[in-house]
Amino acid sequence: MRARLEAIYAAIPDRARRVADVGYDQGLLIDALLLRRPGVRVVGVERQDAAAQAYRERHEAELATWGARLALRTGDGLTAILPGEVDVAVIAGIGARSVARMLRAAPGVLAHLDVIVLCCPRFNGELMPAVADAGLVPLATRLVRDRDHVYEVTTAAPTHPHRAPADELARYYGAPLLDGADPLALPYLEDVRRTFAPAFATGLASYGPLSTQPDLGRKLALLDDAIARARAAASAGPRAHAAPA
Ligand SMILES: C[S@@+](CC[C@H](N)C(=O)[O-])C[C@H]1O[C@@H](n2cnc3c(N)ncnc32)[C@H](O)[C@@H]1O
Repeated sequence: MRARLEAIYAAIPDRARRVADVGYDQGLLIDALLLRRPGVRVVGVERQDAAAQAYRERHEAELATWGARLALRTGDGLTAILPGEVDVAVIAGIGARSVARMLRAAPGVLAHLDVIVLCCPRFNGELMPAVADAGLVPLATRLVRDRDHVYEVTTAAPTHPHRAPADELARYYGAPLLDGADPLALPYLEDVRRTFAPAFATGLASYGPLSTQPDLGRKLALLDDAIARARAAASAGPRAHAAPA
């Protein structure tokens, strides 16, 4: 697997026993779970009708052995899973707006999770606010470089009672990214600043409250504060990253 999927796989706690992979596509993460973690059962969810058949055809030989450890479903996001059916859910490679919708649509599933692992394809303003609004607290964000792109792999968990982010920076970026002293965090955020330099040059005009991406606008408006906070964390020295609880 490429570095991004390896990092997503590594974010699934060793204690996980029933894992849902939402949007499994070719099923590379499912393969890794079934092959490398013999005690794990997997529920794969795909909205593409053809995905399950294609997966079964590719794995005809292994399916006899894997048997009841694998269930493949056609469905929409987390709604294809029953509350309490899995202890870990993974949603990776799907845009933040869709992921936010999935989190809103399945509060009962989220409430019963041990952790959820999230990795969106792009820097965005919608994922972390949606995580907070769903009553989840980010535990760790690992940055992973894969070819020419850096991905955020975030592990979050439900909290009872709900704990809101401490401040707006934490709401938009997630405290673990800012305070975790990941050596990649500062260069990553500085790179975001360079990428969006043309937008900053126009005062973020295309990302205003009435735009299609107001959350990204607000997040970008906070970027210099986020960089300052990540710089302070980096100069305070490496801290233990919050391990998945
Ligand atoms: C780019 S692939 C990512 C595959 C894999 N998760 C990864 O990270 O490499 C996104 C997959 O998510 C599926 N998908 C998108 N929205 C979905 C939804 N609401 N429910 C289930 N699957 C969805 C798509 O059909 C597609 O196969």
